[in-house]
Amino acid sequence: MPESQFNLVCDLSLIHTNAKWRYPGSWSGYAPYGDPAIYFDIARILERGKFDGAFFADVAGTPMVNGSMDETVELGVAWPRHDPIPLVAAMSTVTERLGFITTMSMTYNHPFHTARMMASLDHVTRGRVAFNAVVSGFPQEAQNYGYDTTPDHEWRYRRATEFQEVLTKLFNSVEPDAMLWDRETGRVADPSKVHRIDHEGEHFKVMGPLPTAPSPQGRPMQVMAGQSPSGIKLAATYADLQFAGGSSMKSKAAHRAKLVEACAAIGRDPKEVGILWAGQFDVVSGAAEANENARRYRESFPDRMPHVFLSQWWGLDGYPLEPDAYVHDTITAVRAAGVAPNWGYLDMAMENTTPTTTIKEYALQWLVEGSEYVGTPEQLADYMEEAFHAGGGVGGFMLAPRSGAPAGIARFVDEVIPVLQHRGLFRKDYAHTTMRDNFYKK
Ligand SMILES: Cc1cc2nc3c(=O)[nH]c(=O)nc-3n(C[C@H](O)[C@H](O)[C@H](O)COP(=O)(O)O)c2cc1C
Repeated sequence: MPESQFNLVCDLSLIHTNAKWRYPGSWSGYAPYGDPAIYFDIARILERGKFDGAFFADVAGTPMVNGSMDETVELGVAWPRHDPIPLVAAMSTVTERLGFITTMSMTYNHPFHTARMMASLDHVTRGRVAFNAVVSGFPQEAQNYGYDTTPDHEWRYRRATEFQEVLTKLFNSVEPDAMLWDRETGRVADPSKVHRIDHEGEHFKVMGPLPTAPSPQGRPMQVMAGQSPSGIKLAATYADLQFAGGSSMKSKAAHRAKLVEACAAIGRDPKEVGILWAGQFDVVSGAAEANENARRYRESFPDRMPHVFLSQWWGLDGYPLEPDAYVHDTITAVRAAGVAPNWGYLDMAMENTTPTTTIKEYALQWLVEGSEYVGTPEQLADYMEEAFHAGGGVGGFMLAPRSGAPAGIARFVDEVIPVLQHRGLFRKDYAHTTMRDNFYKK
């Protein structure tokens, strides 16, 4: 893939929640969430559009809102959520080139289990899997794994760093040419090429080796999503790709500069770490349709859904959030109360609101109006080209459909992809078989 071309991933994490399943036309003709048929169709559509991959985020907890889980469950806000791994394995069987990014928590999983699962999935998908290695920050997930609340930030990053050290040792524990499968002699593997790791650290004790044959990608690709200085340092050291928000060209450039600096500090070539800019898209014929789609999406929300969404997103752990209260006053009170929220998201909210923006208005801004990638195919191509270069020109985009699935995704593939291809911004076909090669062999 030439350097002028970017990578594209479609975010499927929440297409069944947050009222997206209810958007007019969305999910019609499909059984409810749980049945994989809609995901099989979407996988085929994405492969037709030569997408790099499909992404599934994961948080294994049921968030508390205003002291209860009732609204989360009743309104289906980021709930229910199945483990994405079985779905990824199944989707890989209806495609040949599309990649998949699934999510594993480095806060609650064990690195041995993660390495074994991902190496095995790399075989099942024939080299088309990546995992989003997250440092988890949502309290009710912590409470499912034996903690009273989310452990301290620096402790989580220390665990994640050791987690990465163990993964590296395990993925290197079976050399690429260790397997023999020699029918004549009956020798399966060369024992001089399979190594114990004998790791012992603050969090983990692992003998190794990884009991898997070397995986098709050498090791599965790794994405990281942390945005704090510790998160950026960890990504600079270990990730193949980083997720980032960056809602303006300026913030994209600033984020890339931080990543380049973190790479320089450890002597890594920053071109080895792509950024996938996260956002929400809607392909339209013009402003009138954009407004109409936004109105229809808004109308599909049950009344309190935006506010429940925001409470979860901020990780307030049951602290009451009033829809009509002002964002600035609320954040000041949340900080004074010392609840353990996602501080970065609160900073972002302070910057993007005025003293009289209400919680409800801000939640709607997040869900609907703030969608950055809304426009005609030509407008989207212009915007993405500019954003790709503003963000350092390595990586691409990880975009979620705003106007329902699978129709919104099919429209992107049928209308936007040809424009991107025509301008030389996106591949016309896959050049390789593995996800890693399709991403990085330019
Ligand atoms: C695009 C994107 C995707 C993310 N996906 C997940 C996810 O699947 N699971 C999760 O627990 N956190 C996810 N996060 C949150 C991050 O892992 C991290 O907790 C958050 O950005 C705060 O990072 P920090 O603690 O380094 O400041 C995601 C963040 C971004 C920007």
